[in-house]
Amino acid sequence: MSEARSGASVKRVAREDAAAISALAREIWYAHYAAIISRAQIEYMLAQRYDPEIIRAELASGDAWWDKLLVNGMLTGFSSCFLTATPGEMKLDKLYVHHGQQRKGYGGMLLDRVLGIARAHGCTTLMLAVNKHNHTAIAAYRKYGFRIAGSVVKDIGGGFVMDDYIMVRDV
Ligand SMILES: CC(C)(COP(=O)(O)OP(=O)(O)OC[C@H]1O[C@@H](n2cnc3c(N)ncnc32)[C@H](O)[C@@H]1OP(=O)(O)O)[C@@H](O)C(=O)NCCC(=O)NCCS
Repeated sequence: MSEARSGASVKRVAREDAAAISALAREIWYAHYAAIISRAQIEYMLAQRYDPEIIRAELASGDAWWDKLLVNGMLTGFSSCFLTATPGEMKLDKLYVHHGQQRKGYGGMLLDRVLGIARAHGCTTLMLAVNKHNHTAIAAYRKYGFRIAGSVVKDIGGGFVMDDYIMVRDV
């Protein structure tokens, strides 16, 4: 789907990458989500999803695939995906590119890797949840061939909710 960009590569995330992925997530989340959700919710969700111990546990479980994007050797983005309870369905759980490096096709490179994993596991559908106000990500997903299939409001504890669209595309 997207061409590999020169100097850029996608590699599997290793246990020893967890702290760097966590730090990159924090940087991207504050740059991107401060206009969409509260600081308190950002902190809550970073702790829930991006604590290095949580990333290491997810990697060790073997239930999720994490990939990292390197640009000239610099950690610049990452993705993760897992099989859902619905047969033939993979969830694109995370897709992040550093704000200084967006719109260069890197998100598409990470997505290509996820699609390859989904195909290798016999999936026919890739789905994701995206905040309804995350307009740039929604634009990117539309460009990647996703369409809105529904919406969901999910209580994530701590007094916070995720107010998301569900988007899907064929694999
Ligand atoms: C969504 C994201 C991963 C896309 O990565 P990327 O490397 O910028 O993506 P690509 O270069 O492959 O595609 C970029 C497309 O995204 C959309 N897009 C990204 N930034 C945009 C912006 N500031 N304004 C409008 N559209 C934008 C456009 O459709 C763009 O395509 P175009 O450049 O041809 O117009 C990246 O923007 C990102 O990390 N966003 C912040 C975190 C996030 O919201 N992640 C998704 C969580 S569900």
